[in-house]
Parts: sequence; structure tokens; C-alpha cells
Amino acid sequence: MYENILVEREGLLAFITFNRPEVLNAMDRGTKEEVLSALGELERDESVRVVIFRGAGEKAFVAGADIKEFMGVRPMEQREDRRRLRYYETVASYPKPTIAMIQGYCLGGGCELALACDLRVAARDAKIGQPEINLGIIPGGGGTQRLPRLTGEGKALQLILTGEMISGDEAKAIGLVEEVHPKEELEVRTRELAMRIAEKSPVAVRFALEAVRAASKMDLQTGLEYEATLFSLLFSTEDKEEGIKAFLEKRKPSFKGR
Ligand code: CAA
Repeated sequence: MYENILVEREGLLAFITFNRPEVLNAMDRGTKEEVLSALGELERDESVRVVIFRGAGEKAFVAGADIKEFMGVRPMEQREDRRRLRYYETVASYPKPTIAMIQGYCLGGGCELALACDLRVAARDAKIGQPEINLGIIPGGGGTQRLPRLTGEGKALQLILTGEMISGDEAKAIGLVEEVHPKEELEVRTRELAMRIAEKSPVAVRFALEAVRAASKMDLQTGLEYEATLFSLLFSTEDKEEGIKAFLEKRKPSFKGR
């Protein structure tokens, strides 16, 4: 049982809900440890194909790392803590697709968690930002690196240097989120997106994640060779035979993940 999050499985989907609405779902150390443990559990569960992060209550996805924990922390402690936990890195390299379903405040570490996910779906009136500069610090969960990769440096710097929030609509316009919906439709539309992915071959999905994630770490030639290797490896799977056969027989494929 977890104290700070809820973990629910629904068919091929799993939901991790940040559940501290009294502090706008701010993530303290305990929350992060629980998320890491839940991710491990869901990774081992073969029935789970897509993991969706969301926040409890109406007001927030996640309003950031828990600011109270920063008081009095010394540099070496902070560095060691980051190194040991590898929280955002674990989400970013998770072997199953992750989606951040964003309503209300999505700030600081909350925004960085969303950036570490593979896809982001936001309510049109969500409030998204990197307000760390207002605390005399900078984003520490990958914001300075992942945000410019999605939006370009100018838009990333505008958010990081002003600390100001933008709406879901504005976030969509700069490429920070992939989809926006009216908040009443957010959950249903996020589930639809997740299900469209969940029905694909899980092996192909995993290799697609690996190949695309490698793009920001490799030069083009190395990346193309890596893609060619993963592409060829998929020719060893039953799912590839099934996918091709189903196309030729004009029916829906039934992928087994083998
Ligand atoms: N950490 C700890 N507590 C937080 C919090 C956070 N990030 N965000 C909100 N809370 C708490 C508030 O302290 C308040 O608690 P109390 O009722 O005990 O006072 C409760 O949540 C409700 O918040 P507010 O009363 O402030 O609600 P509001 O509607 O007036 O304002 C808000 C909402 C604008 C989001 C405001 O709460 C706020 O500015 N929060 C901080 C956002 C922030 O700076 N996030 C970045 C954190 S640093 C970080 O994440 C570092 C990193 O890169 C990893």
C-alpha cells in the first residue's frame, strides 16, 4: 500500500495518481520513492501496456517538488540525493510508454515529470510552468535540457527565466504538450490515446521508444544504424508475422508481445 500515490490497473492501462491534494500534489521524497516502486511493479506486470500519470483533485497535476524539503539542505546532500534516486531519469527511460495527463497546476518538478514522460495531454486551462527562478534556483529535474528539446531554446528560456505560467493551449502552441482538450474531456481523450498505443505490439512499441529516445543522444549516422538494428530485430517476433498476415488477410491484428 502506498501513502502518497494511488496505483490502479484498468485492462491494458495503469494509472499512477499523485495523491496529496492538500499540497497540490507536491512531490516529497516519500512520493518519489513510491512512484519508483510502483513503476517497478508495473514494469513486471505484462498486462500493463501504458502508464498514465495524473494528479488527485481538481486543482493540480503536480505543483512541483516539495519546497519544504529544500530548507537547510547542503549542496553535497542534494547532489547525493539526486544521484541515488534517479527519479526523472527512471521515468524518461521507462520501457513502457508513459503519458502525463495534466489538469490544473503543472509546475517545477511536476512539469519536469511531464517532460520526462513520452506524451503529454493537457486540459486547455492547465497552468504549466517552471517557477524555480522565483525561489532563487533553477529547474533541477531535467527542465533546462528536456524543455528546449521540445520547444526550442527561446520558448524554454522564456518560461525558465520569467517563471511565468502558460495555459494548456499555449503549451500546445509551443510544442510542450501534444494534445489539449476541455477539462471535462481530458480523461476520456487521454484513455483513448493510451488505448490506441496499448493495442499495438508491445515489442514494437518498446523498440520505437528506444529508437526515438536515442535520437537526442546520438549523431544522425549512429542513430540510423541503431534504428536499422532494432528494425531488423523485430523480424524475429511473432507479432511481426501476425501484423503482416493480418494486413494481407484484411483483419485486425492480435498482438501477443512475442
Ligand atoms: N511544495 C510544497 N507545498 C506546496 C507546493 C510545493 N511545490 N505547492 C503548493 N504547496 C502547498 C502550499 O504551501 C499550501 O499549503 P498550506 O495550505 O499548508 O499553506 C497548499 O499547497 C495550497 O497552496 P496555495 O495556498 O499556495 O494555493 P494557491 O492556489 O494560492 O497557489 C500555486 C497555487 C500558485 C501553485 C502556489 O501554491 C505556488 O506557487 N506553489 C509553488 C510552485 C513552485 O514553485 N513549484 C516549484 C517547486 S521547486 C521544484 O520543483 C524544483 C525542481 O525542479 C525539482
